[in-house]
Amino acid sequence: MFGKLLFKPKISLIPGLTPLEYLDRLSRDSGVDIFVKRDDVMPLAFGGNKVRKLEYIFGDIKGRDVDTVITTGAFHSNHARLTAAASAKLGYRCILVLYPPGGHDIQGNLLLDRLLNAEIVAIDRDEDAYRKMEEVAEKVRGEGGKPYVIPGGGASPIGVYGYADALYEILTQLKALDRKPKYIIHATGTGATQAGLILGLKLLGIEDIEVIGVSVGSSAKVMKERVAKHVNSSAETLGLNLNYKTEEVIIYDEYTFGGYAEITKEVVDTVKEAASKYGLILDPVYTAKAFYALKDLIKKGEIEKGSTVVYIHTGGTPINFQYNHILKMHM
Ligand SMILES: Cc1ncc(COP(=O)(O)O)c(C=O)c1O
Repeated sequence: MFGKLLFKPKISLIPGLTPLEYLDRLSRDSGVDIFVKRDDVMPLAFGGNKVRKLEYIFGDIKGRDVDTVITTGAFHSNHARLTAAASAKLGYRCILVLYPPGGHDIQGNLLLDRLLNAEIVAIDRDEDAYRKMEEVAEKVRGEGGKPYVIPGGGASPIGVYGYADALYEILTQLKALDRKPKYIIHATGTGATQAGLILGLKLLGIEDIEVIGVSVGSSAKVMKERVAKHVNSSAETLGLNLNYKTEEVIIYDEYTFGGYAEITKEVVDTVKEAASKYGLILDPVYTAKAFYALKDLIKKGEIEKGSTVVYIHTGGTPINFQYNHILKMHM
């Protein structure tokens, strides 16, 4: 992968490639060739997009004098679960600063965090998670520990490399089928996954593939700024000045269904539809919203008929268990 090209330290947490699956029935029905990049299929603790970022982040951690990893996210955070899992696997203490939404019930990702032996510091929604992480880091230092703070969602310039790798992997898999995508579509939150895909395209000098981010909560304006900032700051760490512009980022913010972690009947119906028609287990916070967008953009002709599109399944399946009370309400 790019790992070699980037010359950046990386810990392998994904042996081999994740599957690229052709959705034949949906392709036939929609007139667009749809491939699903199954980044929910990974050996580490139910997988997901965060693992790719953590491969580089733990590569960086390994080169430093660190014994404790601290990160943050919602109570249902996939990133928190996977940071806990990578820490357990690699032998680090893990402290998670978690906040609503997601609830305190020991279910889904929160249950897994506990099984993985992460220490949980619960804060309120209005508390500053970054200040809290610094406080926790200070306390760890005071006790003689050596902390490393990972930003929420693994959205650091180093974490962004993970999806530059993924881009290369997707194109290689499609090339073997003599195909090239016109679109890559996925759920976007911190914007780091989207930034990595864009960085990958820039590194390969490809200009005819559109990376479509489906916002799971924030406005298009905010998301575009986030993504462009991640692209530029990650490129800078490689000695590149890309000057990537916010206007170049493609974001749809009309599929948030009322905001981050708002779960409506349409969202639950999408989870059910993907499961019952295609055997795909999505989640109601991220991947179902992106899947709904994929179908709607095809219907509206914004994704062209006859084109090839890659939908990235970014993981998050344990979230279903955390929100089973809401899923049940709409089933
Ligand atoms: C399942 C899933 N999909 C998509 C995203 C969004 O990824 P990013 O934060 O890199 O934009 C997340 C982030 O939390 C996630 O857990």
